[in-house]
Amino acid sequence: TRPLKVALLGCGVVGSEVARIMTTHAADLAARIGAPVELAGVAVRRPDKVREGIDPALVTTDATALVKRGDLDIVVEVIGGIEPARTLITTAFEHGASVVSANKALLAQDGAALHAAAEEHGKDLYYEASVAGAIPLIRPLRESLAGDKVNRVLGIVNGTTNFILDKMDSTGAGYQEALDEATALGYAEADPTADVEGFDAAAKAAILAGIAFHTRVRLDDVYREGMTEVTAADFASAKEMGCTIKLLAICERAGDGASVTARVHPAMIPLSHPLASVRGAYNAVFVESDAAGQLMFYGPGAGGAPTASAVLGDLVAVGRNLVGGTTGPGESAYAALPVSSMGEV
Ligand code: HSE
Repeated sequence: TRPLKVALLGCGVVGSEVARIMTTHAADLAARIGAPVELAGVAVRRPDKVREGIDPALVTTDATALVKRGDLDIVVEVIGGIEPARTLITTAFEHGASVVSANKALLAQDGAALHAAAEEHGKDLYYEASVAGAIPLIRPLRESLAGDKVNRVLGIVNGTTNFILDKMDSTGAGYQEALDEATALGYAEADPTADVEGFDAAAKAAILAGIAFHTRVRLDDVYREGMTEVTAADFASAKEMGCTIKLLAICERAGDGASVTARVHPAMIPLSHPLASVRGAYNAVFVESDAAGQLMFYGPGAGGAPTASAVLGDLVAVGRNLVGGTTGPGESAYAALPVSSMGEV
């Protein structure tokens, strides 16, 4: 069988793990897909950086030329951010490739347009890694629960803030002290705004709500409140009430199911709730549906190897579709419910 040609856009923490696993698991991946996968190019910003296990001849700084090659089967985008990722993805579709992306910001902002572009060219767009790293969520919501009716998705989808809140809860530390520790341990970025102000969680909420409720939800539709104002005193009061405080992404049907809402804010949750026991930088998402009842998905929501696990799962899914001459579930089948009454808590 002809090998599937895969290009990697970005070779940082996640991309380098994707490349490594593509090599070490090559035989397994080929068996699962039904065709071998071949790393055909790697676009990077800094070509001088040594990348163990990657043939230097594959490395380029010209991502645009790479996606325009015309012989690629799958483009894996792990650059992040809106541009140049958006243009590279649409260019990849135009030149005959399907796309696997880990880009939550882009999917939350332009998911609809990207799905439309994929469909126009008969290609796949998969993005399991965009929400909660290794935890399978997109495919379970989109496929396993497709015959059920999801009513609520409630989750801890940001590891940095969960680490900080857990620290405050368990040690009585203040916000700044806990943030400093998160930074020292490498959880929080030098600029932690996207995490602590809830932007990162809001992007993930938009993606989850759209898929869970078969509609379109964008980042701007999500009510957002960060966790920078949570104090040690708040934790003390929560404790008195048998609760803890978590930064939650809450997506639910509203108005008798006629609309949906999505929001991110710190919330008190009873210690008896399974989400209360999610410690450190872990993520967990609680799903409530008509037939299944309550489900919880739990695991590492960030990091190179865990995120690469989700990317590779998508790579296998898209590869199988290509071998079978089909495409996976696009967005068109998922645009039934109008989004309304977004905004207020
Ligand atoms: N900053 C994110 C987090 C990384 O802390 O969860 C994963 O998206």
